[in-house]
Amino acid sequence: MRIEIVKDYEAMSKRAAYIIASQIVIKPDCVLGLPTGSTPMGVYGELVKMYQEGIISFSQVTAINLDEYYGLDKDNEQSYNFFMREHLFKHVDIKEENIHVPDGKAVDVEAECRRYDNIIKKVGGIDLQLLGIGVNGHIGFNEPGEYFEPLTHLVELAEETIKANSRFFPSIEDVPTRAISIGIKGILGAKKILLMANGEKKAEAIYQMIKGKVTPQLPASVLQLHPDVIVLIDERAAALLRE
Ligand code: F6R
Repeated sequence: MRIEIVKDYEAMSKRAAYIIASQIVIKPDCVLGLPTGSTPMGVYGELVKMYQEGIISFSQVTAINLDEYYGLDKDNEQSYNFFMREHLFKHVDIKEENIHVPDGKAVDVEAECRRYDNIIKKVGGIDLQLLGIGVNGHIGFNEPGEYFEPLTHLVELAEETIKANSRFFPSIEDVPTRAISIGIKGILGAKKILLMANGEKKAEAIYQMIKGKVTPQLPASVLQLHPDVIVLIDERAAALLRE
C-alpha cells in the first residue's frame, strides 16, 4: 500500500482526479470502477472540469459502479445510478452503453448479480478501482462479516451504514436496508486501486485497514493483499496513523 496524506478534501479530490485522468490518458478505453457517496463528489467535479477543459475524454471509457440500493429504480433521486448521472455521467462524453450500475429493481437478484460479474469479465476487468470506505471499514457494500464475499451479491446493510447514509434521506426509515454490491474478488481483481478517505470519522477505519490484521470483520483490510493500492487520505483521516 502506498499512503499519501494530503491537507484536506480539496487536495484529496484534485490528486485523485489527476490519478484517474492519467489512467484515462494512458489507456483511453480503460475500465473505471466507481463509488458514490460524499467522498468522490469532489473528484467527480474535478474530472468534469478536466473534461470541459479538453484534458480528458470519456468517449472510450467504461464505468462499472460498485453498488446500488436494492429496491430503488434508476430514476429515483436517491439511487446510485441517479447520483452518478448527476455528478459525472451527464457532464461528460461517456457512452450510455459503457455505463454499468447494478439494477436495484431486478426481480431475479441472483441473475442480476451473475450478469454484473459477467460484465466485469467481458470488459476485461477493472483497470482502476476508486473506493471510499465506510466508518465500519466496508468497501463497496461489503459489510463486516464472517468471511469475504467474493462475488456480486445482495447485502443486508449494517446498522452503522444505514445511520451514516441517512443524511441523504428525509428520515432513517427511508434508507433502503439492502443493496447489490460487487464482491471482494471483483474489487481485488482490479489492476490498480485508489482508496480515498477524509475527515476524523474515517480515522479509525483507516488505521485498522492499514495497521490491523486482514479480517472480514474490517473488509477494507483485504486491500493489504493487493499489489497496487494507493491510500489517499486527508490529515484528519490520517490522524491515528501518526500516533
Ligand atoms: C458507495 C460505496 C461505499 C462508500 C462508503 C463511504 O458506492 O461503495 O463503500 O464509499 O460508504 O461513503 P461516503 O463517501 O459517503 O463517506
